[in-house]
Amino acid sequence: MPVAMMQNDLMKNRLMVALDVDHRDAALAMRDQLGDAVGWLKVGLRLFVAEGPDLVRNLNRSHKLFLDLKFHDIPNTVAQAVESAGGLGVDMINVHAGGGEEMLKAAAKAAASYPHMKLIAVTVLTSDPMPKEQARIVALERARLAQDAGLAGIVCSVHEAAAIKQACGSDFITVTPGIRWGGQDTQDQKRVADPASAIAGGSDYLVVGRPILHAASPRDAALEALAMMASVAA
Ligand code: C5P
Repeated sequence: MPVAMMQNDLMKNRLMVALDVDHRDAALAMRDQLGDAVGWLKVGLRLFVAEGPDLVRNLNRSHKLFLDLKFHDIPNTVAQAVESAGGLGVDMINVHAGGGEEMLKAAAKAAASYPHMKLIAVTVLTSDPMPKEQARIVALERARLAQDAGLAGIVCSVHEAAAIKQACGSDFITVTPGIRWGGQDTQDQKRVADPASAIAGGSDYLVVGRPILHAASPRDAALEALAMMASVAA
């Protein structure tokens, strides 16, 4: 296999497509269009509220699945929700770091029964308008809190990933949404970066929604992102 193709193959396990669609048929059609070009699918609030766990199980049969529900509640309620996610068999789940130390510890304890499921925390939303320097300080503080509580990693923007890797170590997972390239509309995202900069900047997983979902060919858009990611990979 040519080296470029091997790199793309490795990168596909670092690309997560956000299935921000409103019903089952659209989600399954997108899954089929993407096929094995990507390794991960992400189910967020819109689709989960509309279609629930059956669809998650279905999608998880062909792809690794990140259930992006960003739990933020009292410790007991969040721990129970993490428990339910573990029972579903998903590969990644998240909570808001802003929920505090006690909540994060309760979530980590619940997740410990499901070793294959990575529990991560949202630091600062990539849509948050706070200045980049301030976002970096807050994200770093929340990343440390999440690590101390026993979580596997965080969600942050590409602009904070390198500092978090440096502070928390290379094994601490960084997941970065806010990916745009080639002059694409940033929409509601404030702290964006392109796929190559994300990989170069210390991101382990890239979350891409609209640039792939709304492309004329979602599969081609995913392959384009993968090629950019592979272009800077070691
Ligand atoms: O369409 P777009 O590429 O902006 O989608 C980004 C995805 O990542 C959305 O599903 C959004 O909910 C999610 N996300 C985010 N910022 C975070 C955490 C998750 O944009 N901090």
